[in-house]
Amino acid sequence: MSANGGIVPATRESIREAARIIRGGGLVAFPTETVYGLGANALDTDAVKKIFEAKGRPQDNPLIVHVSGIREAAEYAEVRELAENLMNNFWPGPLTVVLYSVGIIPDVTRAGLDTIALRVPLHPVALSLIKEAGVPIAAPSANKSGRPSPTSASAVADDLGGAVDLIIDGGFTSVGLESTVVDATGDRVTVLRPGGVTREMLAKVADLSDGDERAFAHRSPGTLHRHYAPDVPLFLWDGFERASFEMARGVKWCYMGVKEPPKDLDTSYRKIIFSSLDEYARELFSMLREFETSGGQIIIAQLPGESDIGSAIRNRLERAANI
Ligand code: TXA
Ligand code: MG
Repeated sequence: MSANGGIVPATRESIREAARIIRGGGLVAFPTETVYGLGANALDTDAVKKIFEAKGRPQDNPLIVHVSGIREAAEYAEVRELAENLMNNFWPGPLTVVLYSVGIIPDVTRAGLDTIALRVPLHPVALSLIKEAGVPIAAPSANKSGRPSPTSASAVADDLGGAVDLIIDGGFTSVGLESTVVDATGDRVTVLRPGGVTREMLAKVADLSDGDERAFAHRSPGTLHRHYAPDVPLFLWDGFERASFEMARGVKWCYMGVKEPPKDLDTSYRKIIFSSLDEYARELFSMLREFETSGGQIIIAQLPGESDIGSAIRNRLERAANI
């Protein structure tokens, strides 16, 4: 099989080839339940450096290390009761747990921090790849730094095409937003990035720190960088104020949300109304990418409420709109 940045379907053979590439120090893009990841051997400093180069990622932004289970996580981090409880409840799944590193995972992967972010993805292709490779896989989202995360193999190819040795196609991802990142180094769980595992879900099994992730952004370097931005201007609508639609006057505007936009405006150029917040989360990044190439001049997106997956959607939209 050729290994030159092509998209290949997920098969036993292609996963085996991908595992060989990872062990050999190369880069493989692969599907997870959240978004596509750009993977390399987390133990191999030179391979991990290639991830930063391919993405144009700032060196101070640490990577998530993908492992096969709790036992493997405990080889790289101090796993105490709080963390073990989270892992038992939410792994495999869209929860990344930040813990003190025990020093095996190299500095470049952790961006020099004394902590490490670990996750077990809930996706058969990702899990087979981790097991077949036999090494922990460092993988950020497989987009150019600052761009919307990729939820399909073709979105990966659009951003990173030539820079990756192989792209495994596992279809569209099911969650559509990146994992929830929590700090579990202390006595309470602190949400650093909201995602598919919601505050409500976490609160059922652990004590949470007060305050939302904005208060803790300094503890997660990536949440300070500009991110998720499409190439055309994005404006946000709270669902009530008409003023947000001033920008839509006389231009081709694209709209997405769970609520219909006000009726008496010029007709939108493209419009998508989601039937649920889960669907909004799943489609958000692919719609940003689709709208920006559609010929639309601006995008207006509805900000949903804070509950459940709504806070993750809001977080990505606010950062994409650079608020
Ligand atoms: O769903 C996901 O999490 C996807 C898939 C591929 O697993 N990955 C992903 O990675 O979104 P990335 O690199 O795009 O986002 C990782 C986030 C960043 O905000 C980074 O700053 C934070 O996790 N992070 C990583 N290690 C950390 C650490 N030791 N302490 C605090 N934050 C950390
Ligand atoms: Mg990312």
